[in-house]
Amino acid sequence: MDGIELRDVRKSYTVDGRPLPVLRGLTLDAPAGEITVLLGKSGCGKTTVLRLTGGLEQADGGDIRFSGARRAGFVFQEPRLMPWLTVWDNISFGLRKEDIHPQDIADLIRTVNLQGFERAWPAQLSGGMQQRVAIARALAIKPSFLLMDEPFAALDHFTRETMQRELLAVHRQRQTGVLFVTHSLDEALLLANRIAVIAGGVLAQEFRIACAHEGRNLLDDHFIALKRDILHCLNQSVS
Ligand SMILES: Nc1ncnc2c1ncn2[C@@H]1O[C@H](COP(=O)(O)OP(=O)(O)OP(=O)(O)O)[C@@H](O)[C@H]1O
Ligand SMILES: [Mg+2]
Repeated sequence: MDGIELRDVRKSYTVDGRPLPVLRGLTLDAPAGEITVLLGKSGCGKTTVLRLTGGLEQADGGDIRFSGARRAGFVFQEPRLMPWLTVWDNISFGLRKEDIHPQDIADLIRTVNLQGFERAWPAQLSGGMQQRVAIARALAIKPSFLLMDEPFAALDHFTRETMQRELLAVHRQRQTGVLFVTHSLDEALLLANRIAVIAGGVLAQEFRIACAHEGRNLLDDHFIALKRDILHCLNQSVS
């Protein structure tokens, strides 16, 4: 399978001299060309999964295979912009000089609705605006896989909807695989091909959503039932 395969992944941290097991044998697939959403209580290890997958940290055990993804774009839980670079330069930061096409950067800036702020410094932007720069930066490298950690959490309702639509468009046009963390069940239901609920350091349950992204109506009986099942799973889960 092209995409991300986690097999029996284990990861512990040490906090205050004591071991803190976070992942206790997590097995999970995030296939290329699909949107996989991770759900789970705060502290259950979602960011840890993204960091291990992106190679920012080493697992203690198990296997992580990340195949077919020539380029992975990372959107962190916080913007992590370079404070000494303008919006424009932050977005083009990951590109080689010869790959910087001003029209593409301008299009991305329009996509994240930051026209007029091209020459602004990160400190001159609100938190949500900074996060939109971070999203544009991740998209700029035309990634074959996106690792996104609550990317839209800091955005207002309307911007969030726009960004969700934009992500689906990128996914559809480029077949970009996405591993996406959110706390919003509705966002998960709108975006996901599969929803993985993590609890107790393992995959508690996986829910597939077979229907196309276009025209999903969360008020359909099918989605209401699914939401109930997922909530039940989350409520039952131990942290
Ligand atoms: N560098 C670290 N050192 C020690 N403990 C850590 C470290 N990073 C994470 N942890 C611990 O690992 C656990 C999982 O953290 P993680 O950030 O993966 O959770 P999360 O599911 O992303 O939570 P949230 O939804 O709040 O973002 C937490 O208990 C946290 O305290
Ligand atoms: Mg997190």
